[in-house]
Amino acid sequence: MSRLFDRTIIITGSAQGIGAVYAKAIAAQGARVALCDVAAPDACVAEIRAAGHEAMGAICDITDAAAVADFVAEVTAQFGEVTGLVNNAAMFASLRPKPFEQITSEEFDRVLQVNVRGTFECIRAVMPGMRAAGYGKIVNIASGTLFKGTPGLLHYTASKGAVIALTRVVAREAGAAGIRVNCLTPGFTLSEGIMDAAETEAINQMTVASRCLPRDQMPDDLNGAVIFLLSQDSDFMTGQTIVVDGGSVMN
Ligand SMILES: NC(=O)c1ccc[n+]([C@@H]2O[C@H](COP(=O)([O-])OP(=O)(O)OC[C@H]3O[C@@H](n4cnc5c(N)ncnc54)[C@H](O)[C@@H]3O)[C@@H](O)[C@H]2O)c1
Repeated sequence: MSRLFDRTIIITGSAQGIGAVYAKAIAAQGARVALCDVAAPDACVAEIRAAGHEAMGAICDITDAAAVADFVAEVTAQFGEVTGLVNNAAMFASLRPKPFEQITSEEFDRVLQVNVRGTFECIRAVMPGMRAAGYGKIVNIASGTLFKGTPGLLHYTASKGAVIALTRVVAREAGAAGIRVNCLTPGFTLSEGIMDAAETEAINQMTVASRCLPRDQMPDDLNGAVIFLLSQDSDFMTGQTIVVDGGSVMN
């Protein structure tokens, strides 16, 4: 069954990594997908089209409000009203863990700017279209680090806490317009960007040992929850946080 048939859905940060995996899975459910990233998402767009689905893509920095508005306008013109948004773009794989005293003010600001303000800009940009449609599904990608207080990524963890907080406010303010906003918190996932990082093996071993389901978490493990949160199956859910991590955190 195509659970997202005839919908237009934006996935941010989808040139590679988990965002690209979401885009392919969402397209396979019948949606027209629009990909954006600071890197060109052309390869993923081509792959989705080759599989017989509709996709478009553009370079877009989510911290640039004007660029985000232009992207949403272009998507709407080509594919129709945007009724789905996956806020996946973030500074993550490029960050190396370090004690919080060594995080500079500039690094802290940049992570908050991308992960929090960028998410805010994307939500704000799709809101008029979703209000006009009387329907919208927004999935914000947070992280299990905020439940664990994972050492080494204070700026990142703080930013993902803020993503959950803003999810709840938007859910309250936009619910009457038929717009649902929920959060997904993945556990440590072996995405493209972290495979070569020196610390990945040790972090992964420790994380796997903490799970009820003691195995590696792969990007595909997240598709079911994202599709559920975009689909009509979750229409009476908003402001919620779903943990997908093999039972490491029990929320
Ligand atoms: N991999 C994990 O263990 C894990 C765990 C929990 C949550 N997450 C979250 O899942 C999402 C994807 O994770 P990933 O492992 O693929 O990370 P990643 O860092 O490999 O991918 C993030 C993507 O966002 C893009 N991006 C960065 N800044 C941007 C900007 N200003 N504008 C537009 N795009 C921008 C990057 O180019 C990249 O393609 C992130 O939100 C991450 O925080 C990942």
